[in-house]
Amino acid sequence: MFILFIKTNRNVFMTARNGRDFTGKVVLVTGSSSGIGESVVKLFSALGANVVVTGRKADRVNRVAQEAQQLSPKKLQPLAIVADVTKSVDLNNLLNETIKTFGKLDVLVNNAGMGLFSPVKDSNFMKVFDTLIKVNLKPYLKLTHLAVPYLEATNGSVISISSVIGMVPLSDFTVGGCVIGFDRGYNTGFVTGNLTRGADPEMTKMLQQEMFKRIPLQKVGQPLDVANAAVFLASKDAQYITGANLVIDGGILYNSGGIL
Ligand SMILES: NC(=O)c1ccc[n+]([C@@H]2O[C@H](COP(=O)([O-])OP(=O)(O)OC[C@H]3O[C@@H](n4cnc5c(N)ncnc54)[C@H](OP(=O)(O)O)[C@@H]3O)[C@@H](O)[C@H]2O)c1
Repeated sequence: MFILFIKTNRNVFMTARNGRDFTGKVVLVTGSSSGIGESVVKLFSALGANVVVTGRKADRVNRVAQEAQQLSPKKLQPLAIVADVTKSVDLNNLLNETIKTFGKLDVLVNNAGMGLFSPVKDSNFMKVFDTLIKVNLKPYLKLTHLAVPYLEATNGSVISISSVIGMVPLSDFTVGGCVIGFDRGYNTGFVTGNLTRGADPEMTKMLQQEMFKRIPLQKVGQPLDVANAAVFLASKDAQYITGANLVIDGGILYNSGGIL
């Protein structure tokens, strides 16, 4: 009995060495045509998964799909789909094509979003809020709703990318691009990317300077920092983690003292 116990434990540890092997898994990452989503989809591809690359711009989607294929150990061809997550018909098509092509879904990463900021006194405040609900929140809920039956069948995971802005009070009650994670989620701090291309440049600069001052690690995060966390949450290593809110921010939240 004692020997069996040792053996079992050894196998568990040996299996854990392959925790990041996603061979045979199907991973759909929204907003994977640039920034964080691009790194997430490429890392899953490099770890053996069949991946779905998507965004609104065909040229970017195709470029990332080609680069992800080069990273795949077996040169698996990603499914490349042009979709606008604010359109129900596109979300239905995204999921239907995924199932038609790969037959199942193991991991859904809700990532597509935009970075807009607006203080409560701003005349655009409610307009910005409505846009963020339309782009950053509703599609997460809708796609998760559509995907749940397939994820139940594979005992899969949902990972939803949000922002630390959803976790700390902002001066002037600024509305920012955030979704509080549900299922398995994580909150991103300040990561290089094109997120704020539609935002007010002055506001963006001010927020980024304020955030940078609060990063104890004194460096801006890279998309791969977030991708590593996504892979961890979807891996066997995280099989006893669910409903968790993982913060990847170089310490911004820890260092914020409640006010940003
Ligand atoms: N970077 C940061 O510092 C930071 C901080 C906190 C949270 N986040 C969150 O991280 C996520 C990714 O941000 P990022 O920095 O990687 O931004 P990014 O480089 O701008 O990437 C955003 C991705 O979302 C896609 N997208 C945007 N609107 C879309 C729509 N309506 N339909 C379909 N796809 C759409 C974009 O593709 P197309 O434009 O081609 O459609 C692109 O692939 C966002 O949800 C953001 O809120 C980022």
